[in-house]
Amino acid sequence: MRFSRKLQKLFSRDALASASEHLSRLTHPVNKRPILDDIDWIQFRDLRHKYPYRPDSPQINRFEDIVYWIDINVERAQDLWLDRAQPLRILDLGSGAGYFLYVCKHFGHDVVGFDTDSEPLFGAATKLLGVPRLIGRVERQTPLPDFGRKFDLVTAHRICFQRIGKVRDQLEWSLGDWKFFLDDVRARLLEPNGRLLLDFNPRPDGSSFFTPELHEFFLSQGARIFRSKALLAKDPNMIARFRQDLR
Ligand SMILES: C[S@@+](CC[C@H](N)C(=O)[O-])C[C@H]1O[C@@H](n2cnc3c(N)ncnc32)[C@H](O)[C@@H]1O
Repeated sequence: MRFSRKLQKLFSRDALASASEHLSRLTHPVNKRPILDDIDWIQFRDLRHKYPYRPDSPQINRFEDIVYWIDINVERAQDLWLDRAQPLRILDLGSGAGYFLYVCKHFGHDVVGFDTDSEPLFGAATKLLGVPRLIGRVERQTPLPDFGRKFDLVTAHRICFQRIGKVRDQLEWSLGDWKFFLDDVRARLLEPNGRLLLDFNPRPDGSSFFTPELHEFFLSQGARIFRSKALLAKDPNMIARFRQDLR
């Protein structure tokens, strides 16, 4: 790679944003001790016996690995300034084991998860963490349920609800399906200053979820795209900010 291109890459917008994210975490450290201390470790250990994982299961699927998951989710929360923001109402779609919302709850936010009931370990972990959760399914061209309230922040991490059929089929939502979902979340679930954060898994070959077509589509919807994440404001004409109002 030529030196000038290396330099360009080093100072690309993503690299600068990444550096700023690291700096922000460094200058606002979170003490994870009380977050970890509030967890019933013995009951979590019992979950592993009750729902053993395959020996070849990657660490990312070992949801009872408390320290690993608290680390990841504290970072997720810090990157949205949730450790410093005023109390928010947060909905997490595909909430899994519930760690993200558990951390958010620790920072004083009012939280609710939404997931299918197909993974008993997730249900059991969510319950142990004391995270409220509604059961349901995000489906294309179908409005999300009425949660009886609106949210300041709707999140979805390591999303897979856009997959149609098995992973190997490599079929996923069309741009029209995404438009329906975004319109629905914006109209029915977000408060006027609400934000939607979508954090995507990489594709099976390791490439970004954002193909050029999806990248262009999300930008056209007003998204701020940063690495695997798209952040959207309620109003498609506004660019949302990761940084939130301080307490
Ligand atoms: C890869 S896991 C991520 C869990 C969690 N968000 C995290 O990052 O740790 C994907 C989650 O999405 C849920 N999920 C998959 N398809 C869904 C759908 N159509 N509607 C709601 N949840 C779904 C799964 O049950 C699982 O909890």
